Amino acid sequence: MKNIVIMGATSGISQAVAKKILADDVCFHLVARDIEKLNIVASDLKSRGCGEVVCYQLDFNELQQHTAIVYDIANKAGVIDTLFICYGLMHPQQECEINVDKALEQVKSNYTSVVSLLVLFSQLMRKQNAGTIAVVSSVAGDRGRKSNYIYGSAKAGLTTFLEGLRYQLYEYGIQVLTIKPGFVDSPMTAHLKKGALWVSTDVVAGYIVKAINKKKSVVYVPPFWFLIMAIIQMIPVFIFRKLNF
Ligand SMILES: NC(=O)c1ccc[n+]([C@@H]2O[C@H](COP(=O)([O-])OP(=O)(O)OC[C@H]3O[C@@H](n4cnc5c(N)ncnc54)[C@H](OP(=O)(O)O)[C@@H]3O)[C@@H](O)[C@H]2O)c1
Repeated sequence: MKNIVIMGATSGISQAVAKKILADDVCFHLVARDIEKLNIVASDLKSRGCGEVVCYQLDFNELQQHTAIVYDIANKAGVIDTLFICYGLMHPQQECEINVDKALEQVKSNYTSVVSLLVLFSQLMRKQNAGTIAVVSSVAGDRGRKSNYIYGSAKAGLTTFLEGLRYQLYEYGIQVLTIKPGFVDSPMTAHLKKGALWVSTDVVAGYIVKAINKKKSVVYVPPFWFLIMAIIQMIPVFIFRKLNF
């Protein structure tokens, strides 16, 4: 059995990825905070022919519970073939600017809690000398913008953490993949108006699975976001500060 751990298994992107990689020799270890939603996701995967599914309930912001869950998963799995981390929170930026609790919750959900999981899992995976760690960050971390720098800074921190972890785990034969989606039509963005640059979770999942299989280090999803972000990063400060986005 191939053991695939999904942290944030109820997210739109995770569900689409799981559907693409399910097989009768795959055992999914699904972790999420909403157990009812999680059971629905698990039943759906089983009905599609997935080998085994084990569910774990965790609010990722309950940091003191991380060690127990991570060790529970590792004990059940034996070897972790793929760790996929895909959860997060996007409060409206204006609310975070005037509410320190909301700002910190945003940072904890998108960065601190992920660091905690990565430290625990990477310690265990080093001993395997094999495996894949794939984590969803965001293009929002590539440059600070007026309209979303709190969410963006958490993703920037995550991207930098993953880059260092990749260099360190290289000698252990472990792939560390940073995934940077652009605009994805998912529950997180349900309230936003959609345009030409938007893609479905299914399209995103296709690129993620391809990047895992090709042992990539960083993937922009869809790939045209690499070009968009390269241009955005080149805009001089005196122009960038006048832009309202
Ligand atoms: N959608 C986009 O345009 C976009 C773009 C770039 C990057 N991303 C990233 O993609 C990832 C997945 O997001 P998505 O687009 O698939 O949106 P989504 O369907 O809304 O997924 C967000 C998930 O995070 C979970 N979550 C949030 N805080 C949690 C906590 N403290 N404990 C446990 N679970 C928690 C939510 O659980 P509940 O269901 O229980 O609330 C939900 O399953 C996130 O990292 C997001 O930042 C998304």
